[in-house]
Amino acid sequence: MIVTIDGPAGAGKSTAARCLARRLGFRFLDTGAMYRAVTWVCCQADIDLTDANAVLDAARGMQLDLGDDTVHVAGRDISAAIRTPEITRESRHVAANNAVRAHLIERQREFARDRNVVTEGRDQGTIAFPHAECKFYLVADPQERALRRQRELAARGQQVALEELLQQQTHRDQRDAEREFGAMRPATDAREIDTSNLTLEQVIDKLERIVRERLANPGH
Ligand code: C5P
Repeated sequence: MIVTIDGPAGAGKSTAARCLARRLGFRFLDTGAMYRAVTWVCCQADIDLTDANAVLDAARGMQLDLGDDTVHVAGRDISAAIRTPEITRESRHVAANNAVRAHLIERQREFARDRNVVTEGRDQGTIAFPHAECKFYLVADPQERALRRQRELAARGQQVALEELLQQQTHRDQRDAEREFGAMRPATDAREIDTSNLTLEQVIDKLERIVRERLANPGH
């Protein structure tokens, strides 16, 4: 079974998707980490992120190993290195590169072949896995999302003003939603879940209940 979880940054997708996968015994696929890994590889090799062909070559040559909690490139653990504000900011160039998107989507499908997977991103239910059995679209108030991001950064020792985070978030949402290919939007058959007033535990419980119902009644 394929479970897709899409939605904007800060809606709680990542943690919920990872925990849901663990509860179900499914593999977890963090597709944002793939875009981040390509960005990191390019930064390391001084590749101009606006040079579409060079970035595509780098993506094709990238030896990526995605674990449930870790990301390795050519054997090097880059799990923390891809979460810096710089990589977050610069990943927009990679996300806007259609050839790279097509390549990463192929890798996503390869990852999911013959496996039970919870996959998380922006375009998983719409483009990567249009036939997924269970699709979710997680949303939350912009203010609440920025607050969550602020807490997340604080836990890593970075203090950032809420206003600044809100502004970055608005720009990211806009770019994600306006992309010509792989734009962030709910699939027509996705269930939208507003996580603003739910705890993480409540979100995971809700997702798990729906997936288990689906597993018990395939085809409904
Ligand atoms: O979700 P996360 O913040 O890790 O995403 C990293 C980058 O990859 C962002 O720029 C996001 O827009 C992009 N992305 C994407 N398609 C996906 C997942 C992430 O364009 N399926």
